[in-house]
Amino acid sequence: MKYSRIIGTGGYLPSQVLTNADLAKIVDTTDEWIVDRTGIKSRRVMAPDETTIAMAEIASKRAIEASGIDKNKIQMIIVATCTPHSLFPNTASSLQNLLGITATACPAFDINVACSGFIYALSIADQYIRSGAIECALVVGADSLTKFVDWSDRTTCILFSDGAGAVVLQADDKPGVYSTHLHTDGSYGNLLYISGNTSNISENQYIKMQGNEVFKVAVTKLGDVVDEALAFNNVNQSDIDWLIPHQANLRIIKATAKRLGLPMERVILTIEDQGNTSAASVPLALDIGVRDGRVKPGDLILLEAFSAGFAWGAALVRF
Ligand code: UT7
Repeated sequence: MKYSRIIGTGGYLPSQVLTNADLAKIVDTTDEWIVDRTGIKSRRVMAPDETTIAMAEIASKRAIEASGIDKNKIQMIIVATCTPHSLFPNTASSLQNLLGITATACPAFDINVACSGFIYALSIADQYIRSGAIECALVVGADSLTKFVDWSDRTTCILFSDGAGAVVLQADDKPGVYSTHLHTDGSYGNLLYISGNTSNISENQYIKMQGNEVFKVAVTKLGDVVDEALAFNNVNQSDIDWLIPHQANLRIIKATAKRLGLPMERVILTIEDQGNTSAASVPLALDIGVRDGRVKPGDLILLEAFSAGFAWGAALVRF
């Protein structure tokens, strides 16, 4: 058993839909501009009584059900989120309790790598499984970034969305996750951040972004990291069945697909009606591809994400 395999996926989106037309009523923008520059037509917003934990719970239950395993087989829970319901207890331990997993030898913890969080969490769980330390992990990406949107800032309020996605990873003697590739460059921290800090939590905290600068670095780094994942595994671009990218901007996704020589028909897109759900976007896209029958057992899939930090990463996975 030297690999980890994804054996179940699940997702959850809040029911409230915010369209481009809705946004054009509150900021100086148009549906045409947003679709042309981002590919987004609508996004989801959590209800006031919803939480990141509640979204993670539904996505996790769906992933566990799809995997067919007994939830008590899960030996680790990792939640990637930059929008936890509270600073502590962390989201993952609340999730463990809600799922009814009573084994204390199931460590549950959050990681915060913003939109790249799911790739990082997948990498951590994969290392634990490969080492033989555990055999089964629940890996979740859940975020509610709309809570940190400045609804008067047209450069950011058009992008972000809420949701959760989850996978169950299990040890197997066949791959599975071939490799994960993680990168961070903290010198770009001032190009994308949430204002304020924990020394002054009464202050309004909003997403601040120099979008055009983020865009340029994202295109370059994502192109590099997908090349790195293929070269590491001696895999050709034409071997990839599906690119499952972080859904930040359709133009960024198209640039990565072009670098891979992949037609857009082999890219799982959710951006049009989901916007950018941060750490949830990759597992949500995977879940949609699996549930609608496009992603089939045995397919070779390439996951990638880019985020504040800056942090970015990729994972090459045999589904
Ligand atoms: O998930 C984390 C990673 N995040 C990303 O990867 C996001 C990366 N960045 C982007 O997706 C794009 O940079 C944006 C969608 C945020 C912006 O698109 P852009 O093509 O880079 O536009 P820009 O920032 O260069 O702005 C061009 C013009 C500006 O007007 P002027 O200065 O040329 O008169 C903006 O004020 O577009 C204006 N603009 C808008 N106009 C209508 C900016 N936002 C809007 C808007 N509606 N919502």
